Amino acid sequence: MDTIVSGMRPTGGQLHLGHLHGALKNWVRLQDQYHCYFFAADWHVLTTDYASPQNIEQNTLKIAMDWLSVGLDPERCVIFRQSRIKEHAELHLLLSMITPVPWLERNPTYKEQIRELVGRDLSTYGFLGYPVLQAADIVMYKANKVPVGLDQAPHVELTRAIVRRFNQTYRPIFPEPEVLLTETQKLPGLDGRKMSKSYNNAVFLSDTPKEIDQKLSRMMTDPARVKRSDPGEPEKCPAFQLHKIYCTPEEIEYVSKGCRTAGIGCLECKKVMIKHVVEELAPIQQKRAALEKRPGEVEEVLAAGNRTAQQKASETMAEVRETLGL
Ligand code: TRP
Ligand code: SF4
Repeated sequence: MDTIVSGMRPTGGQLHLGHLHGALKNWVRLQDQYHCYFFAADWHVLTTDYASPQNIEQNTLKIAMDWLSVGLDPERCVIFRQSRIKEHAELHLLLSMITPVPWLERNPTYKEQIRELVGRDLSTYGFLGYPVLQAADIVMYKANKVPVGLDQAPHVELTRAIVRRFNQTYRPIFPEPEVLLTETQKLPGLDGRKMSKSYNNAVFLSDTPKEIDQKLSRMMTDPARVKRSDPGEPEKCPAFQLHKIYCTPEEIEYVSKGCRTAGIGCLECKKVMIKHVVEELAPIQQKRAALEKRPGEVEEVLAAGNRTAQQKASETMAEVRETLGL
């Protein structure tokens, strides 16, 4: 069975439907098809948020709760905390020896973040080198595939280049990992733009049924449908993108027809979809509430995952050290 590694930064942000239908459901599916390692990339948080490390511990626990509540199962995947596996730092150091600085300077995310995260000094060594840390995260477990969104694809490309250089310079011990592109069904937010916390257009996994109903009831629709009597076109309606994800074929047929003939109003149309969103989130919220009452259990999941990851990491590092004569 192939191995998969992926990480998420525990930034403390609330997860929303975009995360659920992008990365998380994908992870949940993958746990049955691969050896999966999923980790809280807490050192990665420090590459940008080095000045405010106070909540890392708590946010790591929080993200682990999120993962468990959406269906990651510690029996079927390894859930761990990056900073608990010191081998990542050692491998990062060794990979940094063979990584040319121009490869890092060329990284599109690097340039973009420096431009966008204003008010923060990101001219640091750690920030430039974080893709090397990411490469270490990935090759530590000899991953064959890395499920990430398009934004992270250049990092995996860089990992492949580093692996090739390592394997050629020393001896071939690492597989070249492939990107497993998360088909982010581009989930529109309430205003039709990509769902994002910073756009203030998100439905959070923690929203109550009432909040979900209120938010989605005012979600943007086909702008041509001004009055109830104006026919609309579902394909031009952001809300309908959610119907496509959530509704049965019969429901989609019903609302599409109703929209095009002005047979139903937008609110009635949305209610058909809202019901499913609420239903999907209910068990997630229940699980989450239960976990919040038993944080010790979640800590234990992480501790067990750390032990498993540690085992594999120490095997890999033994091989690396031997290869380099260390
Ligand atoms: N850099 C990723 C992000 O910001 C998180 C990450 C760290 C990661 N290490 C990884 C993802 C290894 C996949 C594999 O989202
Ligand atoms: Fe969108 Fe439904 Fe309104 Fe048509 S009826 S514009 S699909 S919300």
